[in-house]
Amino acid sequence: MSIKDEIRRLKKSKNAIILAHYYQRPEIQEIADYVGDSLGLSQKAAETKADIIVFAGVHFMAETAKILNPKKKVILPDLNAGCSLADSCPPDIFEKFVEQHPHHTVITYVNCNAEVKAISDIVCTSSNALKIVESVDKETPIIFAPDKNLGKYIMEKTGRKMLLWDGSCLVHEAISIEKLLNLVSKYPDYKIIAHPESEEHILKTATYIGSTSEMITYVKQNNKEKFIVATEAGILHKMQLEVHNTTLIPAPAKEDNSCACSECSYMKLNTLEKLRDCLLHEIPLIKVPDDISKKALIPIKRMLEISKQ
Ligand code: 13P
Ligand code: SF4
Repeated sequence: MSIKDEIRRLKKSKNAIILAHYYQRPEIQEIADYVGDSLGLSQKAAETKADIIVFAGVHFMAETAKILNPKKKVILPDLNAGCSLADSCPPDIFEKFVEQHPHHTVITYVNCNAEVKAISDIVCTSSNALKIVESVDKETPIIFAPDKNLGKYIMEKTGRKMLLWDGSCLVHEAISIEKLLNLVSKYPDYKIIAHPESEEHILKTATYIGSTSEMITYVKQNNKEKFIVATEAGILHKMQLEVHNTTLIPAPAKEDNSCACSECSYMKLNTLEKLRDCLLHEIPLIKVPDDISKKALIPIKRMLEISKQ
């Protein structure tokens, strides 16, 4: 039996669902029940009737699914699949920062750990950050954490000042502006599209800025164009499936690597073998202490409610 057949069989017999992010390896995206961005994945996790959620993504995503489903088993193929952005916001230091700025509404990007969510007022993702920030009364000061690049982008879009936490995603910050501009001069008919976790100088070169799912929709709607895609390269798999005839180039990374693109080493820790094994043994389990989980659920639910409006 092939490994994919084994996964299908285990999934059915255990009533499990596989949720995968667009940055996952192609073979994992192909076996998943749902592939999406952080918002879509949280929405799916909130509504699933499955008994087990296998999260093919990184730890903060699986943790969010667990907070939404405290009674269900949530498993992550590799427990080391972390996130540099989440790591850039240690809960104890962030808590002191929040205490030093009373009367602020605390909006946290979903790429943070459960303890940080537990001291937040509203969670957001890159597809709803604008809507979430605009849902807060104009007179109320805002702390936005942990991604300073997304925060700056939202400040520019809304014209609203926010207090930014100094965090960032190493993968998006590894995109090389020099190599990107060289690519544009070599291929002047290509348009750049970028994820808002990218640095300001990258975003300035982009014709379109959006979350992973928004970038895919944009490419679908403009399928006569050619694109340089400034985000983690895993997204090209789904994009290329949606638009067979469109030519796509991943944005180049500062360091030369095997794919000449930007790859998230955390996302790539998950493999088909690990996915099969975690379904088989139902480990590693995602655990969130009860008190943290209850507190973190409030800002996550607020986000889901505002997103529906
Ligand atoms: P989205 O898929 O929500 O755009 O998030 C990108 C990301 O960096 C996830 O780690
Ligand atoms: Fe975290 Fe960046 Fe990897 Fe997304 S791409 S999981 S933000 S390190």
